[in-house]
Amino acid sequence: MYQVAHTKALQESTERLLKNSDPEIAVTDLDGLRNVLRFHEYRYYVQNDPLISDFEYDRLYKQLDRFEKAHPDSITPDSPTQRVGMGLIKDFPKTQHLVPMLSLDNSYNADDLLDFDRKARELSGLGSIEYCVEPKFDGASISLLYENDLLVRGVTRGDGNVGDEITANTKQIKSVPLSAAFSTYGIQQIEIRGEVLMNKHNFKAYNDTLIEEGIPPLANPRNAAAGSLRIKDTAEVSRRNLEAFLYHVSFYVTETNNLVPTTHSAMLEMLWNLGFRSPKKEMKIFHGIEGVISEVQAFEKKRDELAYEIDGMVIKVNDLKLQERLGMTSHHPRWAVAFKFKARQATSKLLSVEFQVGRTGAITPVAKIEPVQVGGVTVSSISIHNEDYIREKDLQLGDSILIERSGDVIPQIVKSFPELRDGTGKKIEFPKTCPVCDNALFKPEEDAVWRCINLACTAHIVEGIIHFVSRDAMDIRSFGEANVRKFYEQGLLKDIPGIYRLDFNEIAKLEGFGSKSILNMQAAIESSKTQPLYRLIYALGIRYVGETTAKTLANAVDHLMDFAEFSEIKLQELEDVGVKVAKSVYEFFHHNDNLQLLTQLEGLGVNLKNEKKDLALEGTLAGQTFLFTGTLARLKRSEAEAMVEKLGGKIIGGVSSKLNYLVVGEDAGSKLEKAKKIQTVKIITEEEFLKMLPS
Ligand code: IVH
Repeated sequence: MYQVAHTKALQESTERLLKNSDPEIAVTDLDGLRNVLRFHEYRYYVQNDPLISDFEYDRLYKQLDRFEKAHPDSITPDSPTQRVGMGLIKDFPKTQHLVPMLSLDNSYNADDLLDFDRKARELSGLGSIEYCVEPKFDGASISLLYENDLLVRGVTRGDGNVGDEITANTKQIKSVPLSAAFSTYGIQQIEIRGEVLMNKHNFKAYNDTLIEEGIPPLANPRNAAAGSLRIKDTAEVSRRNLEAFLYHVSFYVTETNNLVPTTHSAMLEMLWNLGFRSPKKEMKIFHGIEGVISEVQAFEKKRDELAYEIDGMVIKVNDLKLQERLGMTSHHPRWAVAFKFKARQATSKLLSVEFQVGRTGAITPVAKIEPVQVGGVTVSSISIHNEDYIREKDLQLGDSILIERSGDVIPQIVKSFPELRDGTGKKIEFPKTCPVCDNALFKPEEDAVWRCINLACTAHIVEGIIHFVSRDAMDIRSFGEANVRKFYEQGLLKDIPGIYRLDFNEIAKLEGFGSKSILNMQAAIESSKTQPLYRLIYALGIRYVGETTAKTLANAVDHLMDFAEFSEIKLQELEDVGVKVAKSVYEFFHHNDNLQLLTQLEGLGVNLKNEKKDLALEGTLAGQTFLFTGTLARLKRSEAEAMVEKLGGKIIGGVSSKLNYLVVGEDAGSKLEKAKKIQTVKIITEEEFLKMLPS
């Protein structure tokens, strides 16, 4: 959509605008500024290849926003500012699609595809058919209507005929252009279809925030996307970072028909050229079904490398006239078929429920299920979160259940099958007392979780220490859950500071602790003292403070004890810190026991200071994309990724032309092979990566 010359000109304008350091200066070229912002949205959200940092984008965006607020008459409906801030939506009006949104017939193997092809050839009388193959995106489908180049309507699938009008929400999806020059193709009105997704990275981050707040995570990104589209607060929709792939033109009105593409692949090109994220780069064209069959099988192997979930491929007759001739059955078009990948769902049986006590005293019911393979791993137990969740999913002992393991997300129960019950099922009974200390359980009214509030309960203390030493917290490698339990039982470890006061002479007397393992443990404990502050904050297990919030908090102070001076209001001023988190943090730092714990830890040499991040270094890798593959020798993958992000770079999910650097460790596999075929990807070693970092 932006040719090289445009790119250069727009980038020059960007630089000019960014040099304009006076934030109050009047915007003299409003269209120019809007075009620059649209261009960078396109680079970021459609091409996944940003040219400026988020920070720089925000500066330009705020310049426009400020100007428009001062001069509301200047606002145009497709101004980049019009994506956000539209406030609360009362109800979604029902709207009829111009053309019904049909679903596709499914195929599961080569025979099914041969069958599909045979029927299409018989009906058309052709010897061979040209097919376009593209991913089957696993999200929520939408329909967009553009009139005279402006996005005027966005609708959910609904029942296929009538859906919910969610125009304001679709405007929050940054890869959906608010205006697109369909007029250059002679098109006045057009209805396009696509899929709204939450990519794997954003899904995980979103689920992490849910878990932090004690809310059960979602089973898959599809549910997250579908749910997000129906939120009635556009600002929240915007925060969810949805994406959209547009893959089908269902209807258009034109005066000059000869400009409109006549094949599906050319339609995808048109959409791409107009600024949409269509699967132009992912699609492939084949003459005859044989190529299609190998393509779908090969693509299934690459499924995990993609940044988003796909559940199959879609095979479409490429010639639009031929599509029309083939028409449809009452349910499905005859010109397209979905090829479904192996399911990441499986059915199992709910055998029993155990109740575990967590570090905050929360009682978590864990379902023991008949072991079953899902997405390559055997699942035999699965968290069922709390009583509300059990009620919502209508779970009973003995139930048949559907479980899903989506990407690297922990498995979840999707639903139960009450219709299969034979009357022998039993209700899941929640205990009234703590399964560890037998004290009465307690449930605050606003909470969904039962808790053991006995601070002396072994479970609290032990789980708290296990969390403290865990990988994402202080990462004391050779400690681990088993050792925490053992040392606690032996009376060698009573609380968190006790980790730093362990009597290794006593430990040496225990079975299985040779001098080497003791040395390792001592070294791991010692090096944890200099962990960055956010790890310590996370390790403390403050309620609602997960890793992301811990990072925000760490960045807000010079020393952890500074929080003792923070009011709840001041805490709420921090990014993404709401009332609940602020209250919890405030309470933590106003509890004498906690302050004493921190004083003790500092006395034992644990770092409580925030080594201020060096702002000058922030942009070193700005605009560059990285992917790590194979085993790294010096860095942990998560550390390496964090470094990239800290320096302004971006981690992307798979090898594609959008990737700038593939960092290759030992035993690198298919990603390396793929990267070798893409000239623009620079393949570097871990050493070379380290050299790119500021010393
Ligand atoms: S084409 C009339 N292409 O899969 C045919 N659908 O049952 C229009 N989907 O409801 C659909 N990726 O929500 C098409 N590349 C793709 C797709 C795709 C995902 C969804 C769509 C549809 C369902 C098929």
